[in-house]
Formats: sequence, structure tokens, C-alpha cells
Amino acid sequence: MATLISKISLLSNPKLIHHRRRNFTLLSRSAAATAISRANKRKALEKEKEKRRTRSDKEIDKDALIDLYNSNNLHNPNHIPVMLPQVLDVFSNSFLNSFVDCTLGAAGHSTAVIRGHPELKYFVGMDVDPVAREMAQTRLNSVLHGRESSVRVFTVLRNFRHIKSVLGEMGEQDLEVDGILMDLGMSSMQVDDPQRGFSVLGDGPLDMRMDPQASLTAEDVLNSWPDSEVGRILREYGEESNWRTLQKKIVEARVHGGLHSTGDLLDLIRSVTPAMRGGRQGCIKTATRVFQALRIAVNDELKTLEDSLYSCFDCLAPGGRLAVISFHSLEDRIVKQTFLEIIKGRDDDGDRGSCNNDLGKTSDEIKEKEAWIRHTIHGSNGIILTKRPITPSEEEETLNRRSRSAKLRVIQKL
Ligand SMILES: C[S@@+](CC[C@H](N)C(=O)[O-])C[C@H]1O[C@@H](n2cnc3c(N)ncnc32)[C@H](O)[C@@H]1O
Repeated sequence: MATLISKISLLSNPKLIHHRRRNFTLLSRSAAATAISRANKRKALEKEKEKRRTRSDKEIDKDALIDLYNSNNLHNPNHIPVMLPQVLDVFSNSFLNSFVDCTLGAAGHSTAVIRGHPELKYFVGMDVDPVAREMAQTRLNSVLHGRESSVRVFTVLRNFRHIKSVLGEMGEQDLEVDGILMDLGMSSMQVDDPQRGFSVLGDGPLDMRMDPQASLTAEDVLNSWPDSEVGRILREYGEESNWRTLQKKIVEARVHGGLHSTGDLLDLIRSVTPAMRGGRQGCIKTATRVFQALRIAVNDELKTLEDSLYSCFDCLAPGGRLAVISFHSLEDRIVKQTFLEIIKGRDDDGDRGSCNNDLGKTSDEIKEKEAWIRHTIHGSNGIILTKRPITPSEEEETLNRRSRSAKLRVIQKL
């Protein structure tokens, strides 16, 4: 009782109330200042990001998209290919005798390229996912049906890291291709199927294999990889700051039988994501980073990408182009750096060559013909046609949220 009375008297002391108010005002002022400075930092970062990319001003042909949607009997608007007009621009000035789509998916980009290039004689579509291949085949058949000129179409269930042997096995020895496309990441069919384990929103097995024939699953990584490796992938592939706690909890879970579903993993993430860090949203963001880390590890995505960029470039004919759409900064960094390495080449002594920005006549000629090209980088082997990556138009970002993180980079062989 005495304590209660003393508390009441303390609260009713006008001096103290004044103090408290002042402190509260001070506190809220400093909180507001922190929020403003954070918002300013965010704005500055956004501005910096805008500077480092070229946002496409290409308008979306909505009628064409609706047409594409209807003509392919799509049930999900996310099946609409990302940055389609920009990809078509990349190849619109080329005479495409041959074209390889390394990531066929539902063949959204491929059908549009085939439609736009009646001169095409040879098309190869690669994917590791049989569901994608089947869907793509149906869409390709409908495009090929009634087409006047003939094109040989091959769809193959292979990893794009094997592009050289795939082209060799087609019986077209030393075939050099005029255009190659890589649209990285998962297809919406994969994300939307909870049984594939890619989505943070559905409950399913901890699978995450793009290629259902591959042996390693996310469940294997979580339940049997060494602790330090689990930590490394969360840190390096997920860029997750809370990786130590997550690693500890994942390893601890093994004592109680391990993690066996995406739901189990989400529960674990929820248990270690402090409510302070944005509640449910914070938890989903952490989960997205953890899922990204696991997916990259399961499919060995970064090493595969780097090796494959070299292989794809080797397969290009002189003047041929390789276009790559990436969806996160780790991928984009690899594309950017590998393109720079590729164009430098090596001289007779095995030394690396150099590269130069926007060099002379070739660059001017290319830019004059193709309005989408802004700044280029020249090397002895090739030209990077996108010194800064091209990103989707604001309109596309609004229409298709998945496109928001897309970055397109293009290289041309000399
Ligand atoms: C974003 S989707 C492509 C969508 C496609 N451009 C379209 O318009 O429908 C990416 C596809 O690439 C496939 N993929 C991912 N990594 C691959 C790899 N290393 N080799 C072959 N295919 C791969 C996935 O299975 C998925 O179907």
C-alpha cells in the first residue's frame, strides 16, 4: 500500500510530470530525428541506385500482353515474361539464324523472339525443370503451327552450364549462335507450387531443387551440412545479418529431429526474429533471405552462372549477343564482373587486355542504330552494351511486382 501511495504521489508531483513530459518530448524529438535521418539515407541510397542503372522508358504494349496472356491460356499473370520489350530490342537489329534460350521456363521470351524473327532457322531451349519444358513445348508448338518459314526447334532438359555440349550433341558441330538469353531465377510455376519448397508463403517439403533429378535438397543442407557451412551460406548467399543465431538454432533443431518442411523452417525463423524487427514483415524478409541462401546453395547457382557466362560467350558467333536478366545483387555482380573479364580477353603472352568506355566509331554506329543503347564498354573480345544495367519501366514494376528487382545486361562478341 505504501509503495502504491508513494507511486501516486510521485506521479502527481507537477515538477516530475514536467520532467517526464520534457524527457518524453526530447525522446520523441530524437526518435523523429532518427526516423528523418533514416528516411533521408534511404532516399539518398535510392537516388544513388537510380544513378547506377538505366531505367527503361519503354512503354508496355498492354494489348500485346493481354494477347500473349490469352493466346497461351495462362492462368497466372506472373507468367508474363519480365522485361520482354527490352529483350526484344536487344535482338531486333540482329539477323538471327540461331538462338538459344538457356532458361526456357514457360517460353514467354522464346515465343516472342520466334514470332519476331521469321529468319530463324535453329532454336534451342534449355531448362532443368520438366514441368517448364512441357509447358514451353505446348506454347512453342502453337507458335510454330502455321508458321511459313521452317525453324528447327530443340527443347532439352539440361543445365545451361552444359550449353557447349548440348550444341555439340545437336549434330551441328561448331555451331555459333547469334543470340543467347538467360532469364535467371525461378519461374512463377516453381514459386507457386508449394511442393517445390521455394515459397515462404506456402507449406511444403524443404526441396528447392530446380532440377528434380538433382540429389541435394534444402533439407539435406539444413540437417546435415557442417555448422560453419550453414552459417556461411546464410551470410554470403542470404546476406542475413542475424546468421549466427539462425545457424545456432538450425543446428540445435537437429537434436530434436531436424527440419523437414518449409513450415518448420518458418517457425524457427519466427522464433528468432525479434518483434522489434518489423513484426510479421520483418520475419518474412528474413525468411526470404534464408530461402534465397538455401536455393542458391542447393542449385549451386553462383558458380554455375559464372562458368556458364564464359561458355555462352564462347558459343556466340561474331556480332552475336548474350542478354542476361538477374534478380538479386549477388547475381548481378557476377554478370557485371564476368562481362568485364570476358571482353578484356588475353594477349599472346596470356596477359589480360584492357577495356575502354564508349570507344569511337563502333560505339557511335551501334548507338545510332539502336536507341536503347546508352553507354558501352569496349574490350579486345567484345562490347558491353549496358555499362549500367537496364531496369524495368515503372509501369512494368507496377504491373508485375516480380520484375522490381530485375536487371538486364548485354554483351556482344566482336
Ligand atoms: C525465370 S524462369 C524463365 C522464364 C522464361 N524466360 C519465360 O519467359 O517463361 C527461369 C527458368 O530457368 C530454369 N533454370 C534455372 N537455372 C537453370 C540452369 N542452371 N539450367 C537450366 N535451366 C535453369 C528454371 O527451371 C526456370 O524454369
